[in-house]
Amino acid sequence: MAPNRLVKGFPAEIVGSQSPNGWAEREYRSDCHPHLGMERYSGNGIAVAPPFPHALASLGTAFRSQTMRIGLIGYGRMGQAIERVAVARGHLIEGVIRSETPPETRLTLARACDVLVDFSHADAVPAHIELALETGRPLVIGTTGWDALRPALAEQVRQAGGAIIYAPNFSVAVQLFIRHAVALATHLLKLEGWDVAIEEIHHRAKADAPSGTARKIADQIAHHSQREWSFGVPERGRLPEGQFTVSALRIGSEFGTHRILLDGPYDWMELTHRAKGREGFAYGAVRSAEWLLHRNRKGFFHLEEVLDEILNTTGRID
Ligand SMILES: NC(=O)c1ccc[n+]([C@@H]2O[C@H](COP(=O)([O-])OP(=O)(O)OC[C@H]3O[C@@H](n4cnc5c(N)ncnc54)[C@H](OP(=O)(O)O)[C@@H]3O)[C@@H](O)[C@H]2O)c1
Repeated sequence: MAPNRLVKGFPAEIVGSQSPNGWAEREYRSDCHPHLGMERYSGNGIAVAPPFPHALASLGTAFRSQTMRIGLIGYGRMGQAIERVAVARGHLIEGVIRSETPPETRLTLARACDVLVDFSHADAVPAHIELALETGRPLVIGTTGWDALRPALAEQVRQAGGAIIYAPNFSVAVQLFIRHAVALATHLLKLEGWDVAIEEIHHRAKADAPSGTARKIADQIAHHSQREWSFGVPERGRLPEGQFTVSALRIGSEFGTHRILLDGPYDWMELTHRAKGREGFAYGAVRSAEWLLHRNRKGFFHLEEVLDEILNTTGRID
């Protein structure tokens, strides 16, 4: 079997032969591509080492599936992480859409892809959904900051028969952390004398505070424990009964830490998730793309609703 050829840039070049269902006919076999998972391609034919070669290699070795041709919308920090993880799992980056990419080129690229992955800017998300609907391509959206528009756009996608999955945090570990840590916290808060606080730490460039993930954790704990949360503490006076705090720290290049602190009469507990890089978000996004395509699902999905289904999808087409 010839090694995978990874093509990026314009005009988009179709890689591999076409199957009747429109997929690229190529199967990833870790034993036949000496570089897969150990190198990535810079787009000019030069292979460069990824930052975590062993981690990326392990993402690819257990996976056997048809190759996806991915169109990346946005090629910033996350777009590049998606590329690393997708290539390690045997997929192809068909091309990249950036802010200056003209509409015709966007259409051409989207039609040449099996799936689009958007980590760009909130203002551009409606246009990217239009692009996915017009070309009939499934779309994974990791871009944040368009919450107010989401209900209307989700309805538009459902009516048009589109296929979109969205998450403000695509880390599978974070999703499981939220699920299980919140369950444990709310269990303890039903006992006498327990209190809770949430802390998040991110890099200096982060635009919002508290993070969407911290908000989600706080909302869920508040809901289940009949308490309210506030961002920070009152300048004067004590924290009112029935209220707990969420605090944020900004430092250096921290990828993202979320901590739930629990204080009981006889015990202290800290539950912490710390991202080691952007690859965790990228991994969840690529798994989601595989699921949309493999299962041919139509609709507008939130990752948390379909996480178990995605994790039970091995990536193998039987
Ligand atoms: N869901 C998650 O798990 C998760 C995790 C991390 C980040 N995010 C979110 O993902 C988004 C991107 O984050 P990032 O750190 O990768 O940002 P970034 O490094 O600033 O990259 C943003 C990219 O978006 C591109 N872009 C902007 N407007 C565009 C448009 N109209 N069409 C196509 N591309 C456009 C930019 O292209 P140019 O360079 O050409 O302008 C740039 O390549 C943010 O919303 C962030 O909050 C989500």
